[in-house]
Amino acid sequence: MHYVHIDRRESVAIVTLDRPERRNALGSELLSGLIAAFAQLSTEAAVGAIVLDGAGKGFCAGADLKEFSGDDRDAVSRLNLVMGAFVRSIPLMSKPVIAAVDGFALGGGLMLAISCDLVVTSPQARWGLPEVSLGWLPGFGLSTLVDRVGLVKARRIAFGAEPFNGTEAVAIGLADILSGEQSALDTALSHAQKLAALPARAVGSVKHYFSLMTRNAETMDVFANRVYAQDAESPEALDTMRARREK
Ligand code: COA
Repeated sequence: MHYVHIDRRESVAIVTLDRPERRNALGSELLSGLIAAFAQLSTEAAVGAIVLDGAGKGFCAGADLKEFSGDDRDAVSRLNLVMGAFVRSIPLMSKPVIAAVDGFALGGGLMLAISCDLVVTSPQARWGLPEVSLGWLPGFGLSTLVDRVGLVKARRIAFGAEPFNGTEAVAIGLADILSGEQSALDTALSHAQKLAALPARAVGSVKHYFSLMTRNAETMDVFANRVYAQDAESPEALDTMRARREK
């Protein structure tokens, strides 16, 4: 599995985004690794819960801007759609998934974290959606943002003008649990162990029940991806992509 590794602690599996030199940016290879890791773990009866964290300085810096700045715009749109489909699949799997956010969760990394069933964050972690400042609408995940914080706060976060920290993320309901003294990973592990000890079938039923309430998310992601593709033709977006290609 490229850029992803799995570690097992009794009945909890830790899936680590492992591309620290790119701040765990979601490129197609890392994404394929994530999809494969979750597919494998969903079939393992011994795994009762999954913790998702990031190697190095932070959780995830969002979409791979280098890949997103490539000439093949159809490929970028497809990647957006696959990222959206993957994060929407997390609530659909029967095992609970807990995000452990240290350092930063930005752009698609924020969307990935908030799509998990529980979100643990360190107080200092940096949260935000930089997409608008780059010239485009966030291409997936906005309906999950609305589910967590409500429409008005979601719109403010989507403007991305004011990044915020983990303490604020918990205060507005974007994240669920502050890690405090322990690391986000250790805090997430202790919550995962509690969930893994519950009857797996009933835990899965809770997830299934609530997943039925998010049926609109796919339609909204398809719409967001279309708007993203139009925004990506704007002068500001073209400047962003040119700068990234030249890096
Ligand atoms: N896509 C691709 N590469 C990325 C990346 C991303 N989203 N985020 C960081 N990187 C790369 C940098 O280009 C840099 O590469 P280099 O060493 O070849 O120059 C490397 O990762 C380290 O990044 P750097 O900015 O030096 O790390 P930092 O620890 O000082 O800051 C972040 C970390 C996450 C705060 C900062 O990298 C950042 O703001 N990234 C962009 C986030 C973003 O805009 N995401 C939305 C994408 S739509």
